[in-house]
Amino acid sequence: MNFENILVTITDGLAKITINRPKKLNALNSATINELSTAFETLEDNIAVKTIIITGSGEKAFVAGADISEFANFTTEEGEKLARLGQESLFDLIENLSTPVIAAINGFALGGGLELAMACHFRIASDNAKMGLPEVSLGVIPGYGGTQRLPQLIGKGKAMELIMTATMISADEAKQWRLVNYVVPQNELLPLAEKLAGKIMRNSSVAISAAIRAINDNFKDGINGFETEIVEFGDSFSTDDFKEGTTAFLEKRKPNFPGK
Ligand code: COA
Repeated sequence: MNFENILVTITDGLAKITINRPKKLNALNSATINELSTAFETLEDNIAVKTIIITGSGEKAFVAGADISEFANFTTEEGEKLARLGQESLFDLIENLSTPVIAAINGFALGGGLELAMACHFRIASDNAKMGLPEVSLGVIPGYGGTQRLPQLIGKGKAMELIMTATMISADEAKQWRLVNYVVPQNELLPLAEKLAGKIMRNSSVAISAAIRAINDNFKDGINGFETEIVEFGDSFSTDDFKEGTTAFLEKRKPNFPGK
C-alpha cells in the first residue's frame, strides 16, 4: 500500500501503521485521515492480517492532534462535517473493526491523537508519552469521540477534569487511570506491542472478532451486550476454529486455527 502520510507494513499476519508526518508531530490533516481510513478498510479485508499496531513516526509524537491549521477558519457547518466525517470514516471504523488494533503511543497523544488511540481496542505507551484533550484551550471541544470514549475508559469525573482543564497527563498517570495498559521505555514499546500481538494471534481470530463485537455492544445505547454475548457464544459452536480449538485441547496439542 502506497500512501503519502502513513506507512503500512505487513509481516507474518501483523500489520503496522505508522503515521508519518514527524515535522508536524504527526498531526491529523484530512489527507492523513483519508489514508488511515483506506488502510484500515484494506487491512480488515485482508484475511491474512490478524492484528494491527498503530504508532507515530519519530520519538516525539504519536499524534499531536487534529491539524489546527486546516480548521482555523471553519464555519459551524464545516466544523460539524469535519467531526461527523472523521468519526464515521475512521474513529468508529477502528473501534468496530473485527481485527484487533493496538495503539502504541510513542509520545504526545493530544486531541485527535488521544481520540485515535482511544478508538483502538487497547493502548500501551512509552514513558515519555503525554496525553490529553486540550481542545477547550483552543475554544472548541473534542470532536472525534473524545467526550464519549474518555469517560468510558477513565470514568466521568476524571474525564470532566481532564477535558475542562485541558491538562496533559504523563504516561504513568495514564496507566493509573487505566487509559493505557502498560508503560515501557520508548525502545521497548514496539517490541511489547509485537509481543502482545503475538499472544493475540495464537488464538482464534473468529472468536476474537466475536468478543470485540460483544464488548463494544456493552457501550451502545439500546443494545443489550449480554444478549450479543449469548448469540455470539452460540455462533462460535459452528466455526471451524471451535472444532480445531477443542480437538487440539483433547489431543493435548497446540491448535492451528483455520480462522473461519
Ligand atoms: N496541528 C497542526 N500543526 C501542529 C500540531 C497540530 N495539532 N501540533 C504540532 N504542530 C506543528 C507545529 O505547528 C510545528 O510546526 P512548524 O514547525 O511548521 O511551526 C511542529 O508541529 C512542531 O510543533 P511545536 O509546537 O514547535 O513543538 P513543541 O515541542 O514546541 O510543542 C506540543 C509540542 C505538542 C506541545 C505543541 O505542538 C502543541 O501544543 N500542539 C497542539 C496540541 C493541540 O492542541 N492538539 C489538539 C488539537 S484539536
